[in-house]
Amino acid sequence: MIRSFSFMLIILTINCAYIFGNSTKKVNVLFILADDGGFEMGAYRNRICQTPNLDRLAKNGLLFNKAFTSVSSCSPSRAALLTGMPSHQNGMYGLHQGVHHFDSFGDVRSLPQILKEHGIRTGIIGKKHVGPEAAYPFDFSETEENNSILQVGRNITHIKLLTRQFLNNSTGQFFLYIGLHDPHRCGHTNPEYGQFCQHFGNGEPGMGLIPDWHPIYYQPDELQLPYFLPNTWQTRLDVAAQYTTISRLDQGVGLILQELKASGHENDTLVIFSSDNGIPFPNGRTNMYDTGVQEPMVLSSPLHPQRKNQVTNSLASLLDVVPTITDWFGIDGTEKNEPVLTGKSLLPLLVKEPADKSKEAVFGSHNLHEVTMYYPMRMVRTQRYKLIHNINYYSPFPIDQDLYLSPTFQDILNNTIMNKNTYWYKSLQQYYTRPEWELYDLKYDPEELNNIVKKNSSSYVFKELQQRLSDWQKRTNDPWICSPHAVFEDTGSFKSNPQCLGLDNLW
Ligand SMILES: *[C@@H]1O[C@H](CO)[C@@H](O)[C@H](O)[C@H]1NC(C)=O
Ligand SMILES: *[C@@H]1O[C@H](CO)[C@@H](O)[C@H](O)[C@H]1NC(C)=O
Ligand SMILES: *[C@@H]1O[C@H](CO)[C@@H](O)[C@H](O)[C@H]1NC(C)=O
Ligand SMILES: *[C@@H]1O[C@H](CO)[C@@H](O)[C@H](O)[C@H]1NC(C)=O
Ligand SMILES: *[C@@H]1O[C@H](CO)[C@@H](O)[C@H](O)[C@H]1NC(C)=O
Ligand SMILES: *[C@@H]1O[C@H](CO)[C@@H](O)[C@H](O)[C@H]1NC(C)=O
Ligand SMILES: *[C@@H]1O[C@H](CO)[C@@H](O)[C@H](O)[C@H]1NC(C)=O
Ligand SMILES: *[C@@H]1O[C@H](CO)[C@@H](O)[C@H](O)[C@H]1NC(C)=O
Repeated sequence: MIRSFSFMLIILTINCAYIFGNSTKKVNVLFILADDGGFEMGAYRNRICQTPNLDRLAKNGLLFNKAFTSVSSCSPSRAALLTGMPSHQNGMYGLHQGVHHFDSFGDVRSLPQILKEHGIRTGIIGKKHVGPEAAYPFDFSETEENNSILQVGRNITHIKLLTRQFLNNSTGQFFLYIGLHDPHRCGHTNPEYGQFCQHFGNGEPGMGLIPDWHPIYYQPDELQLPYFLPNTWQTRLDVAAQYTTISRLDQGVGLILQELKASGHENDTLVIFSSDNGIPFPNGRTNMYDTGVQEPMVLSSPLHPQRKNQVTNSLASLLDVVPTITDWFGIDGTEKNEPVLTGKSLLPLLVKEPADKSKEAVFGSHNLHEVTMYYPMRMVRTQRYKLIHNINYYSPFPIDQDLYLSPTFQDILNNTIMNKNTYWYKSLQQYYTRPEWELYDLKYDPEELNNIVKKNSSSYVFKELQQRLSDWQKRTNDPWICSPHAVFEDTGSFKSNPQCLGLDNLW
């Protein structure tokens, strides 16, 4: 969990007449995304994992305590953050690569398109993992589509040189998106490099060398395990490997920021750091629990000294990234009849913390991860409560290929089969079997273990959140709006009056 920082609620009383748009100054954006990264950072009070570069970035900006992805799955999360539309609205229902084969709708408007229309040069380095190409066109592109993902996503020396190449050739304004592949697992694709590719480029025989990387190794018994992982030796070995990979991510961020400085743009570039989804562990990625959707996030703006080295507890969503970046460039997001986005600009937070956060909410929409993993969920989270709608609740919660092979999951599975203690805070049976509705009071139950949906005293909150969720689903044209107990009819004679027609399946 992320503990509150004691100095966090410093509300600035000065009236900040800061003009975000219409700036005559030429400004830029550098967006850095970790792959399956979590809170293994000094800035988030992890005292073991060494992340001096990320910590420095956090000190130089505003650190988000409550930032969330709208979907805990790689391609869907990236498509949502680049379009400002949730998974069910942009069409990227699951993973993009191979047999999974998902794409956004061809006509969605994405950040690179919007910025291109305004003469801003766009670049992507590293993991793209979204398509089709026409929907996500970047002027400069060095991604897994025509490079080795290890080189453009994990070789921080290579990434440094590509960053230099992009920045050196930018004369006007730019938007550079760097998708690091660290700290993603690689046990299922490149086991020769270890569970997290933690040996790739470390200079040992057969591993190659990444000249700029100084690997940091951790003792399994000295780690700080998150509460939602089993406290076993297998898990500790797994997390130690993850931490080593985070040292490469962290040093990569340091090199990228160094390149930004060398290019002369440190004082006119908004730097954003976040991650696409939860960590690749049980209860993490692919879940709507906080451990699956809560993300690290830093916004570092050279034009906003007001809240440097502070923390915000305001709820933020990766759906806010498009409105934030268009606001930063002074672009009117409502032009061109695009669907009205439900996110909001985060720039006002760089000036002051909102006085009243009680009405805030973030929303989530998950459909699949791998193509076999049909498990649609919808979620709304306020400061106090979380409501999850498990639409396919008769099916067991699905497990992906990558997680299945991980030592942590294998350990839980083996111990469960052998009827031994798993040292986990849940049973596999509990994890696989979920009710249609889950409601948690996060104030008293941050671990989301006590579902209060059936409590009489919760009925008001339950109804209110159901209404908020359903309103959001309507505003974002959710095809699942009537699922699973009714069929949505919206064509033919229902065109002007779409309806949910009941199935009488409420057993
Ligand atoms: C910014 O530009 C918009 C339209 O281009 C204009 O309506 C608005 O008044 C401008 N704001 C400021 C503060 O100049
Ligand atoms: C990858 O493709 C982009 C164009 O989409 C091109 O500019 C770049 O040079 C290519 N890189 C490699 C290594 O082929
Ligand atoms: C600028 O871009 C060109 C073409 O992509 C490349 O050959 C050149 O090396 C770049 N400049 C620098 C200094 O990286
Ligand atoms: C990383 O990239 C650098 C620069 O391109 C290269 O010299 C080095 O061999 C690469 N390392 C690995 C492990 O591929
Ligand atoms: C770009 O590269 C050229 C030569 O490669 C160099 O002279 C110039 O200083 C570089 N510019 C920047 C902004 O790094
Ligand atoms: C950026 O601002 C800092 C602090 O004011 C200053 O020391 C530095 O020289 C500036 N860099 C550029 C490229 O203007
Ligand atoms: C789980 O059991 C299998 C089969 O006995 C074994 O090969 C594997 O090493 C075990 N994994 C762990 C993490 O204990
Ligand atoms: C909860 O509400 C139901 C229906 O209104 C009622 O039958 C039941 O007795 C209530 N339970 C408690 C514990 O108040």
